Amino acid sequence: MAVIIEPFRIKSVEPIRVLTAAERRVKLEKSFYNTFLLDAEDVLIDLLTDSGTSAMSSAQWAGMMMGDESYAGSKSFFHFEKTVQDITGMQNVIPTHQGRAAEKILFSVTGGREKVFISNTLFDTTRANIEYTGATGIDMLCAEGKQPLVSAPFKGNLDIDALKDYICTHGSEHIAMVITTVTNNSGGGQPVSMLNIKQTAAICKQHNIPFFIDACRFAENSYFIQQREEGYKEVAIVNIAREMFSYADGCTMSAKKDAFANIGGFLALRNDQLVTPCRNLLIITEGFPTYGGLAGRDLEAIAIGLKEVMDESYLQYRIRSVAYLTEKLQAAGIPVMQPAGGHAVYIDAKAMLPHIPVDQYPGQALVAAMYLEGGVRAVEVGSLMFGKYDAQGKLIPAMLDLVRMAIPRRVYTQSHIDYVAEVLIEVHKKREHIKGLQITYEAPVLRHFTAHLRPI
Ligand code: F0G
Repeated sequence: MAVIIEPFRIKSVEPIRVLTAAERRVKLEKSFYNTFLLDAEDVLIDLLTDSGTSAMSSAQWAGMMMGDESYAGSKSFFHFEKTVQDITGMQNVIPTHQGRAAEKILFSVTGGREKVFISNTLFDTTRANIEYTGATGIDMLCAEGKQPLVSAPFKGNLDIDALKDYICTHGSEHIAMVITTVTNNSGGGQPVSMLNIKQTAAICKQHNIPFFIDACRFAENSYFIQQREEGYKEVAIVNIAREMFSYADGCTMSAKKDAFANIGGFLALRNDQLVTPCRNLLIITEGFPTYGGLAGRDLEAIAIGLKEVMDESYLQYRIRSVAYLTEKLQAAGIPVMQPAGGHAVYIDAKAMLPHIPVDQYPGQALVAAMYLEGGVRAVEVGSLMFGKYDAQGKLIPAMLDLVRMAIPRRVYTQSHIDYVAEVLIEVHKKREHIKGLQITYEAPVLRHFTAHLRPI
């Protein structure tokens, strides 16, 4: 059979509603052209994020009912702990209410002024949590990863030579950690190869630098390794995941992605060294070590989801459905990132809207146009999210101005995706009429969440 179907059937449905174009215009103006500020019920197809938006399985819902809500030592914690230990090989498992809480704890213990964290690409909350401690985050993405329209199998790879050069020039004493993000969310959901992980880990070991994995999308990354990297065709996803983690000293994970949970996360540590300070901080900020910031039922849902996500027919459907949308848009001449990533389709907004200068946020302008055209909500991953100002107050733009359409797991069917493609094709036809945006309000950190904008 050539058709890859959704490997599930639908038992429970949630209505979505269509607004008129005029209603959408009012909603967008009220939200200051920032789709984060829209009410979800005013969105038809919500591709803002794949985080916490998954449809849970009937097994996960059943698990929710079985959740043990004991304050200490709950059965659900042990199920969760054992599952994480089994996949990561890391013995110390610290539950948190989401990924960034794990980051906050880890970087509070390991960060601080004059410390440097090196990554293929740090996700925005990861970078913010690093910088919040006074430390610096440096992205070292491989050259292919910086060219959205060039296809390569592992565009999420860390630039090994850049890492070696950096250590050679600056030494390694102040490098708090190297973090590889799998898949590389901010770099287009592109995978990292096993070889690259292995090489990164070897350099870290040689220089006594801890090596961590930001594991939000570990199963999607494992699937790409299985499909694209020599020697892994016959290896089960769980074993690929185990190998990936075997090179790392620890990991952080948002269970809102590849664990199909609506909330949750964890920090896992191989060695005992950091465990005590991290657990102490956990108790102050999240909760007792056997629940972190979670209910027993959440721990149960995560444990079940972590196992479900490694099912190959699910991963085949998942990766194929993202590629399907990418191919449709590409066929219509829309500049999409090549090849398709794991969780999202990324449009190169600078290439699509060359008449809008970067300081007028072409990505955000495209996001607004997509909502106006068809009620589709996407997110800018570009100069609004990552831009900084120089001493003169001039924008230092992000490396790429992308628009991300993240596909929630197990939520939308093929006809929803066909509709999204139609909306984009319409927007593309009208692209010359799309106007740039100007910021009228911004917060000092993570400004994209709350910024106000208006068309120029
Ligand atoms: N790391 C990566 C690679 C992520 O993609 C995210 C979240 C986090 C860490 C933080 O996890 O949200 O549970 O605190 N990414 C979401 C997204 C928000 O839309 O890509 P969190």
